[in-house]
Amino acid sequence: MGLHQLPVPYLGAFDDILRLAPATRPTAMPEKPQIADFMALKGQRKIVCLTAYSAPMAHALDPHCDMLLVGDSVAMVIYGMDTTQNADLDMMIRHGEAVMRRRKSSLVVIDLPAGSYESSPAQALASANEIMAKTGADAVKLEGGTDLAPHVKCLVDSGIPVLGHIGLLPQHAVAGAAFRITGRSEGEANQLHKDANAIVEAGVFGIVMEGVIEPVAASIAQSCAVPTIGIGASAVCDGQILVTEDVLGLYDAFTPKFVRKFANLQDDISAAAAGYRAAVIDGSFPTNDHLFWPKKT
Ligand code: KIV
Repeated sequence: MGLHQLPVPYLGAFDDILRLAPATRPTAMPEKPQIADFMALKGQRKIVCLTAYSAPMAHALDPHCDMLLVGDSVAMVIYGMDTTQNADLDMMIRHGEAVMRRRKSSLVVIDLPAGSYESSPAQALASANEIMAKTGADAVKLEGGTDLAPHVKCLVDSGIPVLGHIGLLPQHAVAGAAFRITGRSEGEANQLHKDANAIVEAGVFGIVMEGVIEPVAASIAQSCAVPTIGIGASAVCDGQILVTEDVLGLYDAFTPKFVRKFANLQDDISAAAAGYRAAVIDGSFPTNDHLFWPKKT
């Protein structure tokens, strides 16, 4: 059975929108978006996703994105930790709340951090319930394929939308080691197909595919019933995601091959700080305009 023929239990509720011919589906995300609005973009236009960890970043990105991911990459990018494995539930909730305060029309998805969901579907449900209740986010994301399908099903059956994540799984990476691209051997390619099949069947509304070689990523994307979001995995995917600080040139610990920097804000920040330093030292800042004076009587 091909991926496209798989039963997709979670899609039951969205049958109406998915039955519409792609050309008649909406192409913009409305305010207070639903999972169905996101799914309806599949086949219409490419889906635009970025990470966000803070309120001002959510405000700046929201008009340009269909989905904001509060990724566990926050541990590395914001806290300077070695791996995403250092993120915990409290961290994800704090940053999730901040992003939710300023989003308007992007779907907000929050990562279940390592250690909060893998041991059983019941553990995954408790953690996902806590995130959803405390943040009001739209969905959670978890990493894994066939092994995690029962966890996905448990969440979806309980009404929690789940975004899957297959391929390179940062929560399983060894600190300091290079991230390993998957799908090179026939065995790995078959496993990736099985992973996608299993979590689609369990009910994910979309799949992040990370670090998967062509043409394996392309063939999964082409046959997948739900939107596929690539990161280092095929332009054929229905959409793309990157870490925002990579896109902005704000994270310099390392830059994966799949990143394109659309700005160099590290340089801009450095230049601004140097200008400030010079102005403080030479006394040109503050001027009288920046100071408070007694009211004239
Ligand atoms: O945590 C994260 O930022 C992610 C994306 C890179 C997909 O999982």
